[in-house]
Amino acid sequence: MTRVIAVASGKGGVGKTTVTANLGIALSLLEEDVLILDMDINMANLELILGLEGKQVTLQEVLAGEENIQNAIYEGPGGVHIVPAGLSLPNLKYIKRERMEKVFDQLIGSVDIILIDSPAGLERDALAAMSPADEMILVTTPEVTSLTDTLKTKLLAERMGINILGVVLNRDKNDRDFLSPEEVEAIMEAPILCIIPEDTELIKFYAQGTPIIIEDPESEVSHSFLDLASYLVDKDYLMPEIPKKSFISKFIDGLMGHVPLKPRRQKG
Ligand SMILES: Nc1ncnc2c1ncn2[C@@H]1O[C@H](COP(=O)(O)OP(=O)(O)O)[C@@H](O)[C@H]1O
Ligand SMILES: [Mg+2]
Repeated sequence: MTRVIAVASGKGGVGKTTVTANLGIALSLLEEDVLILDMDINMANLELILGLEGKQVTLQEVLAGEENIQNAIYEGPGGVHIVPAGLSLPNLKYIKRERMEKVFDQLIGSVDIILIDSPAGLERDALAAMSPADEMILVTTPEVTSLTDTLKTKLLAERMGINILGVVLNRDKNDRDFLSPEEVEAIMEAPILCIIPEDTELIKFYAQGTPIIIEDPESEVSHSFLDLASYLVDKDYLMPEIPKKSFISKFIDGLMGHVPLKPRRQKG
């Protein structure tokens, strides 16, 4: 049985893509077969955070009827499977969203979990991302506007029969000017699944196209994502072996011109 879990919020920029990418990898590290589908087609950036940009075949080509979904699946960090949405604008007009149903027919049964990175809001694209989901993780920051918009998403999802797993409180500032986790839980009427602090490391790794869970697995944020994954699939985790690039493969990449080698420090 494939679980289809949408990661959604009312507002954009609250951390859906960050949560989807890191949670997807965390679930893979727990040996779940996971596929992340970037359904935020207009504001796609999952491929950026995972360093997978520039792929020829993406969800756009599939929804334009030019390619099969199997050709749009790529292996990402930690063994997670990714369907990027594609960053190019020109193809957008050829997309037929009705084709999504067929895509899901092909994907269901092929993996343990499909995680959907959803668009913000309650418009057509957001609804399209919600409708294949059986379960939902809501993301909010501790601001009232973010919370009230995410509450609307929750109410709509419930009306669609989607099981709300709970809330990820992201960019928590531990500051009395912002909503506390208890307030968030009370207003959302849903459990907080995890609290991710405001952390500049996340911005840095996002910009580098390397998820924090791979780059800094011992960080508090990475542990939070592993805890969340562990809770979702009811599996304990011992700190898994993170398949980071070895020194030797980095060296070879450097020779091949993929990664600039660090300049030697000048003596004296
Ligand atoms: N906990 C956090 N601390 C600091 N910056 C964060 C945090 N979570 C997300 N961000 C940053 O916020 C921006 C938007 O995040 P993103 O995951 O793309 O949001 P969304 O998918 O909801 O639009 C990115 O630059 C990201 O690095
Ligand atoms: Mg996003």
